[in-house]
Amino acid sequence: MGMPKRVAIFVSGTGSLLEAMIPQKDELGIVLVLADRPCRGLEIARAAGIETELAERTDFNPKRFDAERDAYTLRILQILIGCQIDLVAMAGFMTILHRVIFERGFKGRILNTHPALLPMFKGNHVVLDAILAGVKVTGCTVHVATEVRDEGPILAQKAVDVLPNDTVETLWERIKVVERVLYPKTILEYAATLK
Ligand code: GRF
Repeated sequence: MGMPKRVAIFVSGTGSLLEAMIPQKDELGIVLVLADRPCRGLEIARAAGIETELAERTDFNPKRFDAERDAYTLRILQILIGCQIDLVAMAGFMTILHRVIFERGFKGRILNTHPALLPMFKGNHVVLDAILAGVKVTGCTVHVATEVRDEGPILAQKAVDVLPNDTVETLWERIKVVERVLYPKTILEYAATLK
């Protein structure tokens, strides 16, 4: 066993995946929770005594955020370097990072969990898309993030049945129940492979 890896969790929302990891936070090596907006995820981290960082996107001009994505991403990179982070796990993080973060040390060091069976249903409202498509089975995917959104090597997947009366809410919650187990397990396995 090498040194435990220093893990940062990135959140934007309710943070229920983060919450599910709190009992295992030391084993997982979670030393930082970073958010791009004020959110419940930050509160969960504070309550658990984990260091937090709020890198607010609204500090950057929202009308031309695309032009400032690299500057915003570099600010996040500075935070990660300052905290000596080895591995990032995005858990409902809603900002697409600029490729500069992969070019400067984090290639293969950012994981994501996605509420569909990639490569099916990429994007922002994939639980709704799965219902509208009438698929009988969807699920979740843990993958290595790359500069192309919702792509990158798949590490783990689990199927979830779509039930006849499912709404986005009911289906997404059943997917999250699976993610809350699969994600921390996969993070641990992946971290153990890192130098
Ligand atoms: C998860 O379903 C994840 O796949 C997606 O965002 C959701 C995060 O949920 N990227 P929560 O904010 O942790 O409850």
